[in-house]
Amino acid sequence: MTPPDTSPTAFSSLLRTASLEQHREANTSTFITDLLDGRLGVEAYTRYTEQLWFVYGALEAGARRLAGDPVAGPFVQPELFRRTELERDLAHLRGPDWRTSLTALPVTRAYAARVQECAERWPGGYVAHHYTRYLGDLAGGQIIRVTAERTWGFTRKGDGVRFYVFEGIPDAAAFRKGYRTLLDEIPADELEKQRIIAECKRAYTLNTAVFRALSEEIPLSA
Ligand code: HEM
Repeated sequence: MTPPDTSPTAFSSLLRTASLEQHREANTSTFITDLLDGRLGVEAYTRYTEQLWFVYGALEAGARRLAGDPVAGPFVQPELFRRTELERDLAHLRGPDWRTSLTALPVTRAYAARVQECAERWPGGYVAHHYTRYLGDLAGGQIIRVTAERTWGFTRKGDGVRFYVFEGIPDAAAFRKGYRTLLDEIPADELEKQRIIAECKRAYTLNTAVFRALSEEIPLSA
C-alpha cells in the first residue's frame, strides 16, 4: 500500500471536506448531544443499539457479497464486522430474548434498504455507506463508548459497549490512515467520485433522521 495522499485533492480529503457540515449536523443532533451530556436513559441507548443492528445487518450481508468487487472489495475487512458484537450487547441490554422485542423505526428500515440496494447494485454507493459508519465508529464512536460506560455503568470495553470495541484493530489511527489510502486508490472516475460523495451525504442524512426519530420516540432519562 502506498502512503496516504495528503493533498487536498485526494479523494479521502474531498470526501471528508464535502461531508464536514453533515458530520457536524449528526454529532450535534439532539439525540447525540443528550447522550453525551448524560441526559439519556439506558432505554434510549438500547433503542439506538437496536437500530444499529438493522443497519449493520445490511452492511455486513452486503460485505460478503462484495468481497471480490474491484471497487468495494478492498473495504471488506472482517475485523470491522459489528453484528456479533451488537448481538452480545443486545443480549446484555435486553436479555436472552432480545430478538422478540426488536423493531426497526421506519427511518431505520429506509436506511437499511438503501444500504442493501447499494450493496446489490452500486459498489461505489456501498463504499459511501461503509465509510460513513465504520470510520465514524473508529473515531467519534470511542467518545460514545466512554460516555456510555460512565453513564450506565457498563464494564470498560465490556458487554453493552462491545459494538465500539474493535478487538481486531489495535491501532485505530493507523487503520484509519490505511482506509484513507484505500479511498485514494479507488478505481473510479471523477463523476463516480462525485456520486460517492453525494451518497455519503445521504448516509449522514439517514443517520441524522434516525437520531431525530429516536429523540421523538423516547423522553429524556427513559
Ligand atoms: C458522538 C458524536 C461524534 C463525535 C464526537 C465525532 C467525532 C469525530 C472525530 C473526532 C473524528 C476524527 C476526525 C479526524 O480524524 O480528523 C471523526 C471522524 C469521523 N466521523 Fe465522527 N463523531 C461523532 C459522530 C459521528 C456520526 C454520528 C457519524 C456518522 C454516522 C460520524 C462519522 C464520522 C466519519 C465518517 C469520520 C471520518 C472522517 C474522515 O476522516 O474522513 N461521526 N468523528
